[in-house]
Amino acid sequence: MPKDQPIEGGERSADDLFKSFKEVSITEFFRKNKAHLGYSGKVRSLTTVVHELVTNSLDACEEAGILPDLELNIKQLGVEHYRYSCRDNGPGIPAKHVSRVFGKMLAGTKFHRNIQLRGQQGIGVAGVTMFSQMTTGKPVRIRTSIGDGDVHEIHLLVDVSKNEADIVETKIYKERWRGTEIIGELKGVLFNLSEQGPYEYLRRTAIANPHIRITFIDPEGRKSVFERASKEIPKRPEEVKSHPKGMDVDEISNMAKKTSATRVSSFLENDFSRISKSKVNEIQSKVHFDLKKNPRKLSWSEAEELAKAFEAVDFMAPPIAGLCPIGEAQVRKAVLNILKPEFEAVVERTPAVHSGGVPFQIEVAVAYGGNAGREITDGGMRTEVMRFSNRVPLLFDAGGCALQQAANSVDWKRYGIRDFDNSPFTVFINLISTHIPYTSAGKQSVASDDEIVKEIRMALMDVGRKFNRYHSRKRRDLERAERFNTLMRYSGELAKAISALTGGDEKELEERIKDIVTKKLKFTPQEEPDKKPGKKKKVEEGDEE
Ligand SMILES: Nc1ncnc2c1ncn2[C@@H]1O[C@H](COP(=O)(O)OP(=O)(O)OP(=O)(O)O)[C@@H](O)[C@H]1O
Ligand SMILES: [Mg+2]
Repeated sequence: MPKDQPIEGGERSADDLFKSFKEVSITEFFRKNKAHLGYSGKVRSLTTVVHELVTNSLDACEEAGILPDLELNIKQLGVEHYRYSCRDNGPGIPAKHVSRVFGKMLAGTKFHRNIQLRGQQGIGVAGVTMFSQMTTGKPVRIRTSIGDGDVHEIHLLVDVSKNEADIVETKIYKERWRGTEIIGELKGVLFNLSEQGPYEYLRRTAIANPHIRITFIDPEGRKSVFERASKEIPKRPEEVKSHPKGMDVDEISNMAKKTSATRVSSFLENDFSRISKSKVNEIQSKVHFDLKKNPRKLSWSEAEELAKAFEAVDFMAPPIAGLCPIGEAQVRKAVLNILKPEFEAVVERTPAVHSGGVPFQIEVAVAYGGNAGREITDGGMRTEVMRFSNRVPLLFDAGGCALQQAANSVDWKRYGIRDFDNSPFTVFINLISTHIPYTSAGKQSVASDDEIVKEIRMALMDVGRKFNRYHSRKRRDLERAERFNTLMRYSGELAKAISALTGGDEKELEERIKDIVTKKLKFTPQEEPDKKPGKKKKVEEGDEE
């Protein structure tokens, strides 16, 4: 274009261009990018709503020391149109907080980086409000009481441009009850019994949380009760200090701004785990500024020096106080309760540290027979791998997940499982950590960290060996039973032949032969030595994932 020639319609000034520049609220952002919150796919979206409500109820009950009792109901109102409700017996939500919890994103208070909780961001349930309103235009209804005799019922929407609740209706009435109930409607979603649907989500939640009771009524009106297998409320996770390994410069500099310490040296000692006085001296020898300095005056390049020093110095592994595994006995109870298997084995590894310097722990179980595995439409069985992070089931994005990879990498044939993919087999893997390295914001898949994969493999090989012992014993019993049956079948004819040769009493001879066979094979006949595993669940097509 020749120089100075005016553009068609005239030039526009920067002021003009910036007239349409406006701040975008976080709610607005998630409205446009709802897949970030798990709202993609018809089945997945419905499961995400169930997940958000259930995790909140469980967190709230456990924090308050209450044995959770949840009631979920999904009712079909039309084609791809459902009403959901979730009612808990938790501590309730004080009325003045309801609008912030359900109508404002990032209003939550549980954003503690180093604590093992299910909820982390304060986005979850406002996302449910927003997804309900985006698909139906209707508010969600919240009923809650802290047990003081007043029940507050609040109907609200999210005012997307302001990221604030838009309260449509409030009522107060008298009722002796404590807990929270959320009711809303969704369109464009789908309920099914697939491995990615709400039923499976709840079933797996029940396995990883033996202390909860869930009652679920599905759109067909079927009522399923997952009874609690234990009355032990998990111990409250402790918040742990940051470990220096894996800290980045931005995190160090942010912590330095917020600390109450007056010197960098005491900041290092107080605000991090595993930094002792002698470690402070070691760090001092590796940086070019005086650690007596006020941490609030720490420059970016000094924070960089600290980050480098952290990498160069050896520290003890992080404390494991923040880890709350389910526990071997509890996992066993839950597996027996829900899967009623013919065989089960559980292994809990000791804590280890993954590459970010964060402690983690692995719990695995295998179950065989009973309700383990999934029956597929042609009547065969398929192995199911149940993945969990901090007890929350991961139902999506199995492909790139370290937990799935580790399960697939085990040579199951060595442990007597000829066809790993198609057996009445359930593999349970729970990864516990204050920081789970997810591959994406959807939090459904764990990054393949070498240490994590190694720990899972070790645990699975251990349960594999236990299965192998059981399986070999069972095979030997079966062979012996077969030999026994054959010899018993021919004992009559044998007695007849001997009687013809020796003139002995045929009946007596037969009894004696039977006696010898029984003694030799040390076998007491059972009703049915090879009990076929029960087949209960049908696999349906999953979501569009
Ligand atoms: N059923 C409930 N009973 C009591 N308190 C609740 C309940 N549901 C939510 N809350 C409170 O509301 C807060 C916000 O919930 P929200 O789901 O938005 O965030 P979160 O659970 O902290 O994190 P995440 O975004 O990961 O879900 C919770 O931290 C909790 O304090
Ligand atoms: Mg939540």
